[in-house]
Amino acid sequence: MFASRVSRIGVLILKQLSEGKPTSISRAGYNTSSCYNQYLQPLSETKLLRRAIFHKHHLFSTVSASNSSNEGIEQKEKISVTFVDKDGEEIHIKVPTGMSMLEAAHENDIDLEGACEGSLACSTCHVIVMDMDHYNKLEDPTDEENDMLDLAFGLTETSRLGCQVIAKPELDGIRLAIPAATRNFAVDGYVPKPH
Ligand code: FES
Repeated sequence: MFASRVSRIGVLILKQLSEGKPTSISRAGYNTSSCYNQYLQPLSETKLLRRAIFHKHHLFSTVSASNSSNEGIEQKEKISVTFVDKDGEEIHIKVPTGMSMLEAAHENDIDLEGACEGSLACSTCHVIVMDMDHYNKLEDPTDEENDMLDLAFGLTETSRLGCQVIAKPELDGIRLAIPAATRNFAVDGYVPKPH
C-alpha cells in the first residue's frame, strides 16, 4: 500500500520535474494534512525520487520475470509428437496437453480420418503407438474403445484410437504410426453428435 502510494507519487513528481513545474510536495508543503503527506513528511524529494525509481524498476523486473516464467509454463504445456504416415513420412508437431491426437492431427493437416469426430463410433482414427514405453503411459482403453479397436484394420498390441489419446507431459516424444488402411464401420449416414 505504502510502496504503491510512494511509487505513484514519485512518478507524478518525475513528470512534474520533467515539465519544469513545481512538484506536488513543494506546492502542498510538508505541513498540510493531505492524505499522503503523512508519509512524505520525513522524506526529502531526493529520497522520494530514489524510492520511486526503485519501485518502478522493481515493478518492471517482477512483470518481466513473471512473463518469462509464464512462457516457460506455456512451453512445458506442449509435447512433441511424431506421426508417421502411410508412406513412412515423419511429421513432427507440438501438441498442447489436453488435446487429443485426432484433433492435433487435424490441426496440422495430417491424414488421420476420424469419421465420427471422436464419438467412439468408428475406428478410423486408429493409430499405432510405436514404442511400448509410451504405450504403457497411456490411460487404459475403455470398453467402448476396445470394442471399436476390435473392428480396426491391422490391429496391433499397441493400437489405440487417436481420439482417445490425450496429450500429457509423460507422452512427450511419442511416435504414432497411421495404418496403411482403415476400416470405416461408422454406418453410412452416421451423423456425429455435436460436442
Ligand atoms: Fe471415431 Fe475416434 S474418431 S472413434
